[in-house]
Amino acid sequence: MADNIYTKRLDGRKMDELRKMSAEVGVIPNADGSATFSFGSTVAIAAVYGPKPLHPQHLQNPKKGIIRCNYDLLSFSVTERKRPGPSRRSQEISRIIEWALEPVLGLDEFPGTVIDVHLMIIQADASTRCAAINAAAIALAHAGVPMKDLVSSVSIGKLDKQLVVDVSKEEEDYHEGEGATDIAMTFMSNSDKVLALQLDGKITPEGLKEAVKLGRKATKEVHNLQVKVLKEYLEKTGGGD
Ligand code: CDP
Repeated sequence: MADNIYTKRLDGRKMDELRKMSAEVGVIPNADGSATFSFGSTVAIAAVYGPKPLHPQHLQNPKKGIIRCNYDLLSFSVTERKRPGPSRRSQEISRIIEWALEPVLGLDEFPGTVIDVHLMIIQADASTRCAAINAAAIALAHAGVPMKDLVSSVSIGKLDKQLVVDVSKEEEDYHEGEGATDIAMTFMSNSDKVLALQLDGKITPEGLKEAVKLGRKATKEVHNLQVKVLKEYLEKTGGGD
């Protein structure tokens, strides 16, 4: 057996199998909208505040509201304690998440305002930006922000030559053969529109097309869970808090 080829996943999952997902709505009563989302032991929490007047006033856009994301890892979310405070990584991921979410939000209805989306990773086992986006989409819907569609995100990996769905940290660190490539992708839930795609590693154009197909299929499962928890929450609360 060639031992540099990834034939079986380290945690026993099928190649196109996501880790066990879970989500909960309304976890932070003070926020206008909130949610958690997990892929296995990667756990994200989202809190949405707004739309509210943006200060200082000169930052306001008189034509539409703006979205401001703040993604970070909590210090204890990773094995090597993460130094508190913003980093280049967290700032980049925050901007990517803003770009991914903005196209679906009805911001034209809220000139001069800001929607703050706080995203914290409680426990990190790779694909944290995807979990954060999924939590953010649920929290924005919970906050009642007008949305053209939900947003669903997943990571696709290429380990040596094998494509896999929902990359864990152990897989991200795979070094055999061609090593690991990690592609975080975010879709509009009800169309094939890609809202964000980040590629870390190497892949051929054909491989990327295949990866996007896999990602699209996997995000349908993410979307189903997002809709399920939002519906259950509405049924439980009768639409209010
Ligand atoms: O989490 P995601 O895959 O979106 O982003 P990444 O920058 O590729 O990070 C991959 C993983 O590395 C994270 O999910 C964490 O498990 C780990 N990590 C860490 O242990 N310490 C950091 N300061 C950053 C990331």
